[in-house]
Amino acid sequence: MKILVTGGAGYIGSHVIRQLIAAGHETVAVDDLTNGIQKRIGDTPLVKLDLASPEATDSLIKAFKEYSIDGVIHLAARKAVGESVERPEYYYQQNINSVTNLLLAMREAKVMNMVFSSSAATYGSPDVDQVNEDYLARPINPYGETKLVGEWMMADAAKAWGLKVVSLRYFNVAGAGFDDLADTSIANLIPIAFNAIKNNKPIQVFGTDWPTPDGSCVRDYIHVLDLADAHITALDYLDQDVREHSVFNVGTGKGSSVLAVIDTIHKVIGKDFDVDLVDRRAGDPAALSADVSRIEKALGWKAKHDLTDIVSSHYRASSN
Ligand SMILES: NC(=O)c1ccc[n+]([C@@H]2O[C@H](COP(=O)([O-])OP(=O)(O)OC[C@H]3O[C@@H](n4cnc5c(N)ncnc54)[C@H](O)[C@@H]3O)[C@@H](O)[C@H]2O)c1
Repeated sequence: MKILVTGGAGYIGSHVIRQLIAAGHETVAVDDLTNGIQKRIGDTPLVKLDLASPEATDSLIKAFKEYSIDGVIHLAARKAVGESVERPEYYYQQNINSVTNLLLAMREAKVMNMVFSSSAATYGSPDVDQVNEDYLARPINPYGETKLVGEWMMADAAKAWGLKVVSLRYFNVAGAGFDDLADTSIANLIPIAFNAIKNNKPIQVFGTDWPTPDGSCVRDYIHVLDLADAHITALDYLDQDVREHSVFNVGTGKGSSVLAVIDTIHKVIGKDFDVDLVDRRAGDPAALSADVSRIEKALGWKAKHDLTDIVSSHYRASSN
């Protein structure tokens, strides 16, 4: 298939493009390069475009026709939770207008397959440690809200004009599938920890008195290569007779504590660094991991990489 990947020059998008090509698909990227890096996508053609801009619908229709696109993987989004709290209208303008323009163009050009990049942020702060997709989605920040609204828009398009679509709710994405595709954003624990070590600063652990086995917060870390493969599997699933919008968690199903991640980093890099145990941070759930039974059953997909693979691949790629 010919797949248009929005946010293709980003951290996850560039992994998705490589795995699509490896699976025999052809790819086109759309990215405004505000957080993307063009050299990550090699020979894949780039349509440089702000998807939220008024001209985006027409430009997309043109690109769909020019490249005879069969399906879209929509990853482009602003993703900094803190910034979304400070600038909610910007997050709505960017993330929602992008989805609107994309759906308008897909309907017009009769591009009927879509994989939408959603997030565990749609769950907010659940009162269970492991969530399944039927758990009430109640996001606690504008970023998570834009992802949930995006899912609703997908479901409405599926109902109204037969869009075949799945939304993937990613948990904590980390690691690198290729040494030139490191996560450069320093937005979650593993890049933050490596960045602290590089700058000879202590790694901060927010709370060691949570109701978890070692007292630190527990999260579900998913290797970016496993996540990219979930998109390929989702496309195969859309090839079957899918009629309703489906939502799938993408995680490992196993939580790792902040202290366990730090211990793994220590083992991987083989040298000492400072760790600061500080107070809890407001808004952090104690533990959150994915119930992955739905994606395993419906798509036959399962994560293959563990925490050591994630940490060591990030280390290799970020030292590159
Ligand atoms: N990284 C994670 O842990 C994580 C977790 C859950 C969900 N997600 C989602 O996965 C997707 C990809 O995340 P990532 O970590 O690769 O981020 P990223 O910032 O590396 O990639 C996003 C890409 O989209 C582009 N982009 C953003 N807004 C755009 C717009 N309006 N028009 C055109 N291009 C635009 C950026 O330039 C960037 O290249 C996002 O939708 C994000 O919300 C990420």
